[in-house]
Amino acid sequence: MTDIAQLLETAGLTGRGGAGFSTAIKLRAAKENGAELIVNACDGEVGAIKDAWIVAHHLHELIEGAGLVADGRRPRIRYAAHRGSRTAQVLEKAGLPVLEVPHRYVSSEETALISLALGGLAKPLTKRAPFVFGGRDSHGRRVPPTVVLNAETVWRISQISHLGPEWFRSYGTTAEPGPRLVAVGGYVARPGVYEGSAGVALTDILDAAGGLPPDARHVGVGGLGGVLLTAAQARTTIWDSPGMKSHGGALGPGIVTVWNPAECPIEIAAGLISYGAGESAGQCGPCMFGLPALAADWADLARNPTGSGRDRLALRLGHLERRGACAHPDGVARFATSALRTLAPEFAAHANHTCQKGRTQHAQYA
Ligand SMILES: Cc1cc2nc3c(=O)[nH]c(=O)nc-3n(C[C@H](O)[C@H](O)[C@H](O)COP(=O)(O)O)c2cc1C
Ligand code: SF4
Repeated sequence: MTDIAQLLETAGLTGRGGAGFSTAIKLRAAKENGAELIVNACDGEVGAIKDAWIVAHHLHELIEGAGLVADGRRPRIRYAAHRGSRTAQVLEKAGLPVLEVPHRYVSSEETALISLALGGLAKPLTKRAPFVFGGRDSHGRRVPPTVVLNAETVWRISQISHLGPEWFRSYGTTAEPGPRLVAVGGYVARPGVYEGSAGVALTDILDAAGGLPPDARHVGVGGLGGVLLTAAQARTTIWDSPGMKSHGGALGPGIVTVWNPAECPIEIAAGLISYGAGESAGQCGPCMFGLPALAADWADLARNPTGSGRDRLALRLGHLERRGACAHPDGVARFATSALRTLAPEFAAHANHTCQKGRTQHAQYA
């Protein structure tokens, strides 16, 4: 039988949970160490729904893919889903072992799942050992070798085993092959989960959901850990790593959200940044204190766009990068950096009172 890791390497499968790491490398290490598998079906990112769609429509293939990762020594397989979610219900009904994850943003980060699986809190571990080899965590607990894979990644493993690497490579680009699910939401006619691939125009993805409405002004790509584009940028952007990198972003977990033009984008961004601040696991100083300070700076800038707030905000953003044990502060900083740049005209309109919503509606900033 063909080695599954070899097949995945030929196919060029990379993780669909956001970071995009080679699945073949993870799988080889998992097999060598008889690692337990946690299938991450949490859809924890803002706007994410693709893993729920896989569980609802392709559960057998998901189970089969998990079996391919965990064959041999029959290690344990668990499916992580938010407690009480439809995904958790479907998995439980199918008789699968479900790791019930609290509804917190950072709880679906991989080491948070490992901690939860050990009977601890669903908070990211501050020791970042590659737990596929096992070892001790930051609390001194023994961690059995464990690999965490996103549900779409596991589904793609099953597809590649049946359809082959050539099929997989017939989608996407040479550097970023394969089909990818994208959750399209917000101000579109038909929000839902669509199949895309790296290298297509962002407008092609949006067309599947009814198109980018002519009055749309902003498009978020990648959720709270992603970036914000103007509608004009979205119309000319290619959805692949180079295309997204030119806006400071990445392909990420496959989320495209059109912002409602009737709502103030500065307020939408403020809401997202405050949400991110409230979701810090409170373990790393720069995250625990830096994110709330960032949210406060953003509100100050919205209140007084002509002051020194912009410089302060920029300085603050620089102090967040790579400062946490997990990538949460980096994600929020990336989004805020991008939103600050993209919303420059809106901040200017705030400053000279020509903001399209009118000043009176920004009561919370008054
Ligand atoms: C704050 C935070 C939240 C995350 N939430 C999810 C999630 O809901 N689902 C997911 O698959 N990955 C999530 N990730 C990424 C995981 O840590 C991990 O990289 C991924 O599950 C690995 O699977 P992959 O290699 O198949 O992409 C999150 C990461 C961070 C930093
Ligand atoms: S960076 Fe933030 S969310 Fe991540 S482990 Fe540290 S405190 Fe928790």
